[in-house]
Formats: sequence, C-alpha cells, structure tokens
Amino acid sequence: MNAIEVFCPGSVANISCGFDILGLCLDSIGDTMRVKKVSKKGITIKSISGYNLSLKTNENAAGVSALALLNQYKNIDYGFEIEIIKKIKPGSGIGSSAASASGSVFAINELLGKPFSKKELVKFALEGEYICSKSYHADNISPLIFGGITLVRDHKELDIVNLPTPSELYVTIIHPQIEIKTSDSRSIIDRNIHISKMIEQSANLGAFISSLYEENYELLKRSIKDVIIEPYRSELIPEFKNLKKIALKNNALGFGISGSGPSMFSLCKGIKNANTVIKNMEYQLDKMDINYKSHISKINKEGLKIL
Ligand code: HSE
Repeated sequence: MNAIEVFCPGSVANISCGFDILGLCLDSIGDTMRVKKVSKKGITIKSISGYNLSLKTNENAAGVSALALLNQYKNIDYGFEIEIIKKIKPGSGIGSSAASASGSVFAINELLGKPFSKKELVKFALEGEYICSKSYHADNISPLIFGGITLVRDHKELDIVNLPTPSELYVTIIHPQIEIKTSDSRSIIDRNIHISKMIEQSANLGAFISSLYEENYELLKRSIKDVIIEPYRSELIPEFKNLKKIALKNNALGFGISGSGPSMFSLCKGIKNANTVIKNMEYQLDKMDINYKSHISKINKEGLKIL
C-alpha cells in the first residue's frame, strides 16, 4: 500500500467528571486525511483545506506527531506527504488538533505495515497535541486510537482503559462560532482545589464508569457533573447556563463543556431525546442571535478508520 485516506473523527474530552482523563469518539464529525509515500524523505504537508493552518511540518499537529513516529522508525529511504481536508474547526473544543495529531500517525503506521501498537501511536500523537495546547493530555487522542469511550489512567505510562459504550447513547454538540484556545482555557483554572470538591468529582467519576458497565442511564445521569473546571470555563461560553437548563429540562442525561470549549455537549438516551434537546437549544441560540453549528452523533466505537 502506497497511499491511504483516513477519517479522523472529532471527540469530546473530559465528559464533565473526568478532566484530562475521559474522552469519547464522535461519529458524524471529522476530517479526512490523505497520506502517501513519496521519494522525498521526512514529512511534507502538501495542503490543508478548510481552515488556515501552518503547512510547516514542525508547526502542525499532524506533522509533529508524524515526525515523532519517524524518529522511532529511521531505516526507510522514502518519506510521506500529507493532505488534510479539515472539517473540525481549530479551537472548537471537539478535538481538532487531536484529529490531526492522531490521523497522521494512524495512516503512516498502516502504510508501514503496522509496526507500532495503539499505545505507541498515542505517544507520538501526544507530541502533536502538545504543540497546539502546550500540555500533554491524551483524553482526545485515546478514543480516536482505541475507539469508543476511554479513560487515561496515566498518560506517561500510557495506561489507557477502553470503557463500554451504552447502546442507546447519543451525543449532541452545540458549537458557538467563537474560538477558545485550549492553552487559554487551561490558564484560567484554579490549580488548588478544596478536598470536598475532589471527593465530589471522584465519586461522580467512579459512578459514571460504573454506569457504563451497567448500562445504567439513571446513574449516568446523576454522575455527569463537573464541580471543578466548569465553574471557571463556563464564564467564557455564551448562553452556557441557559442551554444547560434547557438540555436537562428536555431529558438530556447530562450537559457540559466539550473539552476546553466553546462547544457544549449533552448525552441523551435515544435519538428522539437527542433531537428534542438540540432543537430546543437551537431555538434559544436563534433567539439570542448567536451563530452556532450543531451536530448529533452516535459514539464511534471504531475510532480512526480507513476510507
Ligand atoms: N482535557 C483537555 C482540557 C482537553 O480540558 O483542557 C482539551 O481539548
């Protein structure tokens, strides 16, 4: 195989109760990436359509993670050329940099005959994620590489746990058309938290994970809460409080900030509830004259895939 086209999905990191450790892979939103072997050694980013991003390999998430991979696979006398059709807006909170960072290493690994494990791909992709967000967090990358919902127990040891995906779960995304840089939205978080908040958050995280194994939607509903990060970040997002009220009133199981925002997600049981939740949130945003994009997605159990 000399060339490959891959779907690089969006993702929802944190899922409210698991800051920097929980993430889920989306199905209906994602970039397309084409990678081919070329005689020129190294990594060349030939084109990026959709959004204005650097074509310089060492400034681009896809390029940096691909270089990290090649650094561990030196004995080849050819290189790779990457074309990205970007559909996930950078700074949207639905894993734009993770899609690029993990897409390139997934594609190159396939072209090389899969010498690297999923865990190793996460390690390479983390380097690409780092240049965009200035922090090593694997919560967006892991569900793309492992599929479904993942827990990053330790991003240094790359101890990543695949969690079950309840069959009736749908995700809604509302993306107000403003940009929030992950590095900025990380800088406003209070680093010192009270132990009572730690207890609340870890109880919810444990209950959330249990609810996935039990497919217990009522427990899931009680546990999608973020008492640590959301109070700070929600201030940056227009209509956050109203949309949360509307989503929960219309039977969403939970509502929160997707990754570092400004996108907001809700989890719903069944497509009917997801449609009602999204319609009511759209009505509110139209009323307030706020530009947004909206999506409904199943959870993508496969993750990155060859097209
Ligand atoms: N866990 C990261 C954060 C995800 O919330 O900053 C960034 O998309």
